[in-house]
Amino acid sequence: MKTLFLFLLTASFATAQVVTWVPVQPGIWKASVGKPEAYNLLTASEARPNVAALTKLGQSAFPLPQSAITARVVDGKTYLHFPLNRTEQLYGFGLNFQTVHQRGRILNLHVDHFGGSDNGRTHAPTPFYVSSDGYGVFINSARYLTVYAGTAVRKDSPDPPKSQDRNTDKSWTSRPYSDAVEILVPAAGVELYVFAGPKPLDVVRRYNLFNGGGCLPPRWGLGFQQRVQRLYTAEQVQAEAEQFEQKGFPLDVVGLEPGWQSKSYPCTFEWDKTRFPDPRDFLQTMLRNGVRANLWLNPYVAPSASIFSSIKPFTASHTVWTGQVPDLTLPKARQIFFGQLASDGVNNGVSGYKIDEVDGYDSWLWPDVATFPSGHAAEQMRQTYGLLMQRYSMDMYRKQNNRTFGLIRASNGGGSQFPYVIYNDYYKHEDFITALINSSFAGVLWTPEVRSSASSEEWIRRIQTVVFSPLAMINAWDSGTKPWSFADVSQPVQDMALLRMRMMPYWYSEFAKYHFDGTPPFRAMNLEEGFQSEVKHELVTTSLEKNPYAEAVQKEIKDQYMAGEYLLVAPLFNGQKSRTVTLPTGNWYDFYTGELVGNGQQITVSPGLDRIPVYVKDGGIIPMMPARLHAPKSGETVPIEVRYYGTKPGLYRLYDDDGETFNYEKGQYSFREIRVAKQSNGQISGTISAPEPGKPNTVGAVTFTQMTR
Ligand code: GAL
Repeated sequence: MKTLFLFLLTASFATAQVVTWVPVQPGIWKASVGKPEAYNLLTASEARPNVAALTKLGQSAFPLPQSAITARVVDGKTYLHFPLNRTEQLYGFGLNFQTVHQRGRILNLHVDHFGGSDNGRTHAPTPFYVSSDGYGVFINSARYLTVYAGTAVRKDSPDPPKSQDRNTDKSWTSRPYSDAVEILVPAAGVELYVFAGPKPLDVVRRYNLFNGGGCLPPRWGLGFQQRVQRLYTAEQVQAEAEQFEQKGFPLDVVGLEPGWQSKSYPCTFEWDKTRFPDPRDFLQTMLRNGVRANLWLNPYVAPSASIFSSIKPFTASHTVWTGQVPDLTLPKARQIFFGQLASDGVNNGVSGYKIDEVDGYDSWLWPDVATFPSGHAAEQMRQTYGLLMQRYSMDMYRKQNNRTFGLIRASNGGGSQFPYVIYNDYYKHEDFITALINSSFAGVLWTPEVRSSASSEEWIRRIQTVVFSPLAMINAWDSGTKPWSFADVSQPVQDMALLRMRMMPYWYSEFAKYHFDGTPPFRAMNLEEGFQSEVKHELVTTSLEKNPYAEAVQKEIKDQYMAGEYLLVAPLFNGQKSRTVTLPTGNWYDFYTGELVGNGQQITVSPGLDRIPVYVKDGGIIPMMPARLHAPKSGETVPIEVRYYGTKPGLYRLYDDDGETFNYEKGQYSFREIRVAKQSNGQISGTISAPEPGKPNTVGAVTFTQMTR
């Protein structure tokens, strides 16, 4: 008894141990604290590092003071402590929607639908953070983690805040300075990773490459997607696709919502034969017209589904919308579930899936008291279900050597490699852009999808941002809104949509850099050199009686972002007639006119309804192709117009492959070097390197346009 008491006493006061780090890749270190669980984010996603690319990034010194990183395991929980210095800022901790700067926040990382405030519950609560000092930390756990990101103050802190007297000291604050990130892991051990910089972008690149590199969509994935009304028949879908063609609006993918199935919520994963009497014929006819089909589903199996009785032994204790929840960690469950998707869908020509409702809300999903036949906790399944759906659905396409590009509601650490874009049911345009910014710190892609809009102004403003995003999609599954539905802006909408298509060589090359270099195609300004992320503090309330702890709140820049190597995008929102844009140092040029707009300063712009402000870095090269309604097919040759901005010599790596298969993984790709320089007579001269023999070559005639005169 006495010994037990003593043991408990020592256990609960276990002193923190300095963590031991082992290099695992150049610039990446791993530590194991306590007994890490076998099931974690990296095993669920089966992420494998791109060793060659990481080796190219080079060796680096451990970026933090090692003695300041400590851990304790007490009562089956792990307590982690990482140091922070006075000036550093933190980014990441998942797909946040309202804040970029995370220092000073408390987050409970939990896969969920975003519920209106950044508290850690989100579609991809990736336990990864990036410091402005140029290092990153990843906690490889499939548990709900509690993060104190520079909020808590330890008695033994080496840099404690000073105590101030509120009565007399005007600088008193209700948020005393904290010098640490502390994380609670509800498990008796965990694996940790540290990523070196030196720049924050290098950290992000290392993180993505460690997870296998970002996904490479097929070319058609970068075209336009229209989701149609949920009870449409095959003829209605075909008629809508024809309308796009006739009106000259681009269309690469049509999305079918729940009604393609004989039953939904819960689902059968079988075609409704009254609406789609001959699915294969429907899909093949669409394909011949250059349009692919993406099918909605949630993974909850209806009692009337043909796979119901065979999959039932491999499902959870609880149902979702009365459907069985397959335990996707079990090979048998996967064989039955994906076998059905393959036979009714993929093998007939379905190009991808929209995998819904694998995120939250709590009242809909399985509860944390649910059990799974594999023995994994409900919590672990919640944190990884999105990863599992992405991983194993991608396998169906891999088997056919055919790429996919789909939609998903949940992801997590290890997910960068999957060709899926996150979406949700929330709809605040401003927050959609902040999510796009933060997606670059979470190793995921995000679409600010367009649904019905209250006005033509809102419609065009939203369309403008999907054009400059990973997935250009209208999700009008209920309202049936079409690109031309708002007649007064239908011309600028069409121009924008065609601009997206013309920029395809640029978008495709930028995604290739996501895959091969780890650089996110859409990313935060904070990852851009020369960007002064000025944080203003503004006091919002003056009445201390209303809020006795009112503090000046951070005003951060969270409405502009980088799109690919050279472009800065600064959207306008409904009701806005002008806005300020913060330009990083260096000359920046107007994307549309080539004119110099500024250098390292704040500018105010009033672009009018038909334009979204976009700026190009000095020496910027944007490869474009002629406007068209569908992405080029495999092997099709396309003329390239190289647009060149500014005065600095420019270099661009133009990516090329067959655009559809996984042959790029076997070396069937090339990066062609485009160089442009200004000559002494003011004219430009441009070159493109020769095609690589034996590699796919889709580059036709190349012309050069000098945008800045
Ligand atoms: C929602 C989804 C929507 C739409 C709808 C269909 O959960 O976010 O985009 O697909 O389901 O029922």
